[in-house]
Amino acid sequence: MDVYDAITKRRTVYSFLDKEVNEEIILKLIDSAVKSPTAGGIREYEFIIVTNQNTKREISKISLTPYIDSAPFMVVVICDKSKMDAVFDEEDSETFCVENAALAIENMLLMASSYGLGSAWIATLQQGDIKKLLSIPEKYKVRGIIPLGYAKDEATIKINAPKVDMNRIVHIEKFNNSTD
Ligand SMILES: Cc1cc2nc3c(=O)[nH]c(=O)nc-3n(C[C@H](O)[C@H](O)[C@H](O)COP(=O)(O)O)c2cc1C
Repeated sequence: MDVYDAITKRRTVYSFLDKEVNEEIILKLIDSAVKSPTAGGIREYEFIIVTNQNTKREISKISLTPYIDSAPFMVVVICDKSKMDAVFDEEDSETFCVENAALAIENMLLMASSYGLGSAWIATLQQGDIKKLLSIPEKYKVRGIIPLGYAKDEATIKINAPKVDMNRIVHIEKFNNSTD
């Protein structure tokens, strides 16, 4: 599948088939994540792969997102901001941590899509509760929880296809010049 097809087919999925995902694919997703560009060449993020059913259920509860425990695995993306602080000022450090994680996650989501996997990016969560559940040290921040697996209902996925008005969001040469 080419990159555009993977981008086009990606949709947020919350419900997954009871079907394992090959370990090689899981590792390829992580490998894709770390191949994203990073501010200052610093990779301050790390990944926790969760397959334990009880843990997934707890994550689903803590993130107030039902059904995601049906995913065969989740990738929890965490970041150690102190690695950024060593190089950048406070404001840049915070921003770059968010941006680095976003790029890593997007690479993962697109790679997943290319394998026919559904995914979601869950960011609304109780930091303290997730950190306690997964024994994540205090200095880390959880940037996202990514449930991954084969989507339960392909038809439901397609309904969400975004319709973007290019004339509204693309400006030519100057702000407010439409593509017309
Ligand atoms: C930074 C970020 C945070 C998100 N957080 C959540 C979340 O906490 N819970 C959730 O259900 N979806 C979350 N999403 C998924 C979006 O709701 C979803 O991408 C959006 O509705 C568009 O649907 P699509 O991904 O199918 O195109 C998040 C997406 C992004 C990029």
